Amino acid sequence: MSDESESVGFCGVVIGIVFRLELGKLSNFRRLIVSERIRWVKEDPTRKNVFWPSEALKKQAWVADDSIYAEAKSDPEAFWAKQAEELHWFKHWDKVYEFTPENYKWFVGGKLNISYNSLDRHIEAGYGDRIAVIWEPEPVEEESVKLTYKELHDLVSRFANVLKELGVRKGDRVGIYLPMIPEAVIAMQACARIGAPHSVVFSAFSPDSLRDRMTDAGAKVLITADGYYRRGKPINLKKNADAGVVGTPVEKVVVVRRLGGDAPMNQGRDLWYHELMENASNDCLAEQMDSEDLAFLLHTSGTTGKPKGIMHTTGGYAVQSYVTAKWNFDLHEGDIYWCTADVGWITGHTYINYAPLMNGVTTVIYEGSPDTPDYGRMWAIIEKHKITQLYTAPTAIRMFLKWGDEWPEKYDLSSLRLLGTVGEPINVDAWMWYFDKIGGGCCPIIDTWWQTETGSNMVNSLPGIGPFIPTVAGRPFPGVIAGILDAGGSPVPAGEGGYLTIYNPLPPALTRGIYGDMERFKAEYYTEYGSERYFTSDGARKDAQGNIRITGRVDDVMNVAGHRLATAEVESALAQNENVSEAAVVSRPHEMKGEVPVAFVLLKAGIEHSEEVKKGLIKTVDSVIGPTARPDEIIFVDDVPKTRSGKIMRRVLKALVRNEPVGNLTTLRNPECVDSLKEKVGHKEQGGCS
Ligand code: WTA
Repeated sequence: MSDESESVGFCGVVIGIVFRLELGKLSNFRRLIVSERIRWVKEDPTRKNVFWPSEALKKQAWVADDSIYAEAKSDPEAFWAKQAEELHWFKHWDKVYEFTPENYKWFVGGKLNISYNSLDRHIEAGYGDRIAVIWEPEPVEEESVKLTYKELHDLVSRFANVLKELGVRKGDRVGIYLPMIPEAVIAMQACARIGAPHSVVFSAFSPDSLRDRMTDAGAKVLITADGYYRRGKPINLKKNADAGVVGTPVEKVVVVRRLGGDAPMNQGRDLWYHELMENASNDCLAEQMDSEDLAFLLHTSGTTGKPKGIMHTTGGYAVQSYVTAKWNFDLHEGDIYWCTADVGWITGHTYINYAPLMNGVTTVIYEGSPDTPDYGRMWAIIEKHKITQLYTAPTAIRMFLKWGDEWPEKYDLSSLRLLGTVGEPINVDAWMWYFDKIGGGCCPIIDTWWQTETGSNMVNSLPGIGPFIPTVAGRPFPGVIAGILDAGGSPVPAGEGGYLTIYNPLPPALTRGIYGDMERFKAEYYTEYGSERYFTSDGARKDAQGNIRITGRVDDVMNVAGHRLATAEVESALAQNENVSEAAVVSRPHEMKGEVPVAFVLLKAGIEHSEEVKKGLIKTVDSVIGPTARPDEIIFVDDVPKTRSGKIMRRVLKALVRNEPVGNLTTLRNPECVDSLKEKVGHKEQGGCS
């Protein structure tokens, strides 16, 4: 035993020295490359941290003329119809848009198929040999998989026939519970091909979550896998699928063999994907879908405990997804685009699968964790596949920042041309780090605001137009009309906070309803400001130029001594303090002020939890927002509860500071941290921690 540990220690030293030498050499190499990169952005000489597209980017971008906004606003229907012409329609629409309260339709009478637009359209244009998908498995020793458009078309058609053989018909819902493997895209595309709406469930969701969603969707077939690799370990997904389908309408379970072993199969119910595919024909005509036929369901959390099955229809979703990806990410022939979301989220549906494929570029799928085998994996993948666009989330960027500059510095990231973010407000530090360290100061950052409900991006700066400003998403995408309103429905002046709403004509990709619960749909989105204004539940403010800054969900808004304040704003302020790694803020009732913010703060490695540091934090908040935003209490913690997609579960923190039951913790990634937080805040509630 002692021999073994000595030799490990010895090896460690040797590797350490070699590693440092290599690192020095490589970072010089990277600096060289960065200095030679095309600068797609230029700094605004008059304003700090404001960037504009360079002449080169303006020349290359699909749109570079600001007049597009006014043009689209003057006739949104004509704008969207023009974009729709770029896709393939079996039958042209008769009418562009039709509106009656809570019931809006796009491209009425048109017939199309999203899978046909993702695959056949490119093959017919002679691009079948282009790479559609690159799959990077987590184990580094495994080869990556590349599928051309022709190969993907072949697999999708075969699997579409498999589904038909299993009795799936147009309109039948199909469950998908798959990890980040090519079969996730194949399965979604196959469903779209035959017009069977899919209901994808994030693979790290629990069996209970799967059960609820399958029951709500009424799915008779589920596609899953034996497992996948996460942080070097095989994860048994089949076990969760087996538990999750009990008591649901699911009759058949198709199992993809990812791990290679013999998962226990339930006779009569379970079928191996590879066996079904062996005998399936690759000839499957794409179903001619009505523009308003249901494309898919995706469950998302609302304010109540019951997830909502958000419905997206075919034509409007296809058109807006296609054009937003094309313009926002500046997609061109030969691009190798990587969106790091999971296919289980709307971002994965739209911007891993449908939109990049409809644009004919290469979409990259990574199976595993960004820290496996080490903190450099993200950057290794970018170097290996020469990724041109990277689209990720602020929570991930903050984590990479915490891991340190040495990791990206080891790799050549000069293939990157554009960066994107989504999912939550991004703080200045994270934005600047992403811009400098990952983009080498050369790439625009496209901060895209949207939701599961909106299906596609709705607010962001366009690469050829700009500006790119930390924490500011930008203007509504052309053809989208948005307003920031006060509680009474009047627009607020520039610089003031209000509620972000989207006006009629309601954009093509916007959800058409909550599956099986149209009353809730109406209540949650079209009651606040009436049926012609979609209520987003997000707070926002815009500057004099109309650039919108999202301040966070209004469900997390506080009213501190008469001042409206988003918890996300206080978080963003705290994150600007040099000692802070991450901050989560919730409100607590206060006798005098109504509500006050309470901050949970994670400090950077090596920083002591001291009164001195606390004072520094208060000073930062004072200077960024003002004394009204001062946290009433700052609690230093080692971790905060997060969902599996990495979003902080403020609901749990709120319950902790209010001494209320913390409720169901099954969807947390790290439920274990809740007990230590309870101790810290002196939470009295017993039980409730399932
Ligand atoms: C938040 C994710 C700030 C917002 C696509 C929204 C953002 C919720 C941004 C939807 C952004 C999304 N800046 N906040 N760029 N993008 N959000 O349904 O609060 O998972 O309402 O969709 O994420 O989350 P969802």
